[in-house]
Amino acid sequence: MDETEILLEKLSNAHGPSGFEGPVRSIMITELKPFCDSIETDGMGSLIGRFNTNGKAPKVMVAAHMDEVGLMVKYITPEGYVKFQPLGGWLDQALINQRWTILGKNGYVEGITGIKTPHVMSAESRTQVFKRDQIFIDVGAKDKQDAEERLGITPGDPIAPHSKFTLLNGNDLYLGKAWDDRIGLAVIVQVIRKLNKKSLPNNLYAVSTVQEEIGLRGAHTSSHKINPDIGINIESGVAGDYPGITIEESQEKVGAGPAIFLHDASMLPNLKLRDFVVEISKQNDIPLQFEVLNGYGEDGAEIQKSFDGVPTVNIAIPTRYLHSHYGVISRKDFDNTVNLVCELLKSLNEELVDNIKKFD
Ligand code: CO
Repeated sequence: MDETEILLEKLSNAHGPSGFEGPVRSIMITELKPFCDSIETDGMGSLIGRFNTNGKAPKVMVAAHMDEVGLMVKYITPEGYVKFQPLGGWLDQALINQRWTILGKNGYVEGITGIKTPHVMSAESRTQVFKRDQIFIDVGAKDKQDAEERLGITPGDPIAPHSKFTLLNGNDLYLGKAWDDRIGLAVIVQVIRKLNKKSLPNNLYAVSTVQEEIGLRGAHTSSHKINPDIGINIESGVAGDYPGITIEESQEKVGAGPAIFLHDASMLPNLKLRDFVVEISKQNDIPLQFEVLNGYGEDGAEIQKSFDGVPTVNIAIPTRYLHSHYGVISRKDFDNTVNLVCELLKSLNEELVDNIKKFD
């Protein structure tokens, strides 16, 4: 594995359900600290690294979120089964028969979401979706006391999908959990490594936000702390290149380059900034896709609405099977996104930002 694959593996395997991003934050601090002028958190835990501190030059905020969809311990039944509260947008059918890691006070606890065996089901219930309220995690405890005392499970503990990063069958595709949005964080780290303290015509703020999946909460507070002139949000996009999903639902293909969102349920991009991203991608022969989604929400929406409004775009790496135990991404898309963001940052100078901010 090369440097990029090691980084992707580390970020994908790290556990950080919404509100419990600590392990991911530690990785980001380790990766960014050698390059940054200062690093701090806001009052909710979003990490703000400041690079290329450059007087009155425009402030560019590049953001990605640290949290992943997960669960939280709600209560333990007298028999020792764990009931949970979902954190983020899960399908009920994605919760069943999966391995999970509970981050308890005595360390990691492995568990499985079982449902009753088909042998005892009626023909009708074999085709039904089991509702989240019926589902529980079996941690192999003898009873409630055993789960609490020996395993150290407490209500409020975070629960993350148990999945390991894998190179997918010798192709340039990577299988792993939490690409939404560890892929965005990996882009930020790789951009910072690549720029290698090169001087930029702007003040760069690299932000790793918290609690995106439960309402874009960390992007709200971190953009308030920074008051940026430009927002570039890096997300996992919605690949639409597998059976059962249509071009009407999403237009991105894995391997065909980063995508710029032209519409999602949370925001529209600034038009001049959109055109600038398209122009830079053309100038540098970086493939770029367009995405128009009906639903979806992302941190760019909060950056855009902070203070008196901030020109913002959302750039995404196409990802298959979001919000489940495993997603698939392409190395080519990752590298192209890193190149695109580097080129954007090298070009965003005062004159250009002034022009982007002007409506004429
Ligand atoms: Co996301």
